[in-house]
Amino acid sequence: MKTIGFFDTKPYDKIWFEQLNDRYNIRYFEHRLTPETAVLAKGCEGVVAFVNDQIDKDTIEGLYQAGVSVLAMRCAGYNNVDVKAAQGKLTLLRVPAYSPYAVAEHAFALLLTLNRKVHKAYIRTRDFNFSLNGLIGMDLHQKTLGVIGTGKIGQVMIDIGKGFGMKILAYDPYPIQNPDFSYVPLSLLLEESDVISLHCPLTRETYQLLNHETLAQTKKGAIILNTSRGKLIDSEALLEALNSGHIKGAGLDVYEEEAEVFFEDVSDTPVQDEVLSLLVSRPNVIITSHQAFLTDEALFHIAEVTLKNLDDFFAGKDLENEIRYPTKKS
Ligand code: NAI
Repeated sequence: MKTIGFFDTKPYDKIWFEQLNDRYNIRYFEHRLTPETAVLAKGCEGVVAFVNDQIDKDTIEGLYQAGVSVLAMRCAGYNNVDVKAAQGKLTLLRVPAYSPYAVAEHAFALLLTLNRKVHKAYIRTRDFNFSLNGLIGMDLHQKTLGVIGTGKIGQVMIDIGKGFGMKILAYDPYPIQNPDFSYVPLSLLLEESDVISLHCPLTRETYQLLNHETLAQTKKGAIILNTSRGKLIDSEALLEALNSGHIKGAGLDVYEEEAEVFFEDVSDTPVQDEVLSLLVSRPNVIITSHQAFLTDEALFHIAEVTLKNLDDFFAGKDLENEIRYPTKKS
């Protein structure tokens, strides 16, 4: 039986892996995978890692020295993996799609909460404060939803937006064939959209796609949603745009420096990140801790596909979910 090292384990990660796995000896580590913890994988043929593991050149070398030959990401994004450094050392696998619905539905949950101020109403009514002052929202019907990145999640987001009667504008340098929505240049999308939702990967081109300059191009009163990767937004620039009132609200499931705090309970530790503290304290910002993927269906698919990826690798089969260098869009 092959041994697999499973890094950054949380209780919810184990639910489906425990139920579906009958062929690997899985060693669960709570530690994140870093150059320092890679040594834990000694004796493992493969490792499983996640979005905030630090899979740089040193970690890859550490895993290679420990005898690991395959690294299976239990997620879609791999911006935290030095794909070039892994060449000739580790085979890299991923789960390209596990539930685009989970992520798009969460993006919409953030939008609906922000727009209709459900988070404020919830707190008020728990205190028997039934006042409606300050709770005015807007109809989403006939408002414009700007979707940046029209891959699997972006397309579900568009479908949901259409269900609400929203007009759709989209931007993607790799457009889909025969879309039933309009592609426009990024600048036009920024100018026209009432809600802007990010669904593109983090690459050199998309790093801080929303920054001082691009945020200034957005429509006054726009709402920003980010369920993709934190580094797509310059958080300080976003904070300024929120402070000035130019941006009406932000729903963030990801944050630039999330690796320091997300997925952990740091409630009894002073948070050192001033920008995060200021964002968290704003009533028109909702932050969730990279939980958009967290549905039962998505966790099932993650476990199922990760185990199949490992099966195919160890059986010497073709690897449909391999991350190869150079990456398609890096
Ligand atoms: P996908 O690969 O199906 O779609 C990504 C789309 O972005 C593609 O159509 C691509 O052409 C487009 N794109 C590439 N460069 C672009 C650019 N410069 N500007 C605009 N669009 C660009 O990926 P999928 O499954 O839709 O996921 C999107 C992102 O969502 C992932 O990269 C990941 O970062 C994030 N994600 C977040 C999760 C969460 O729990 N918050 C869970 C899963 C994914």
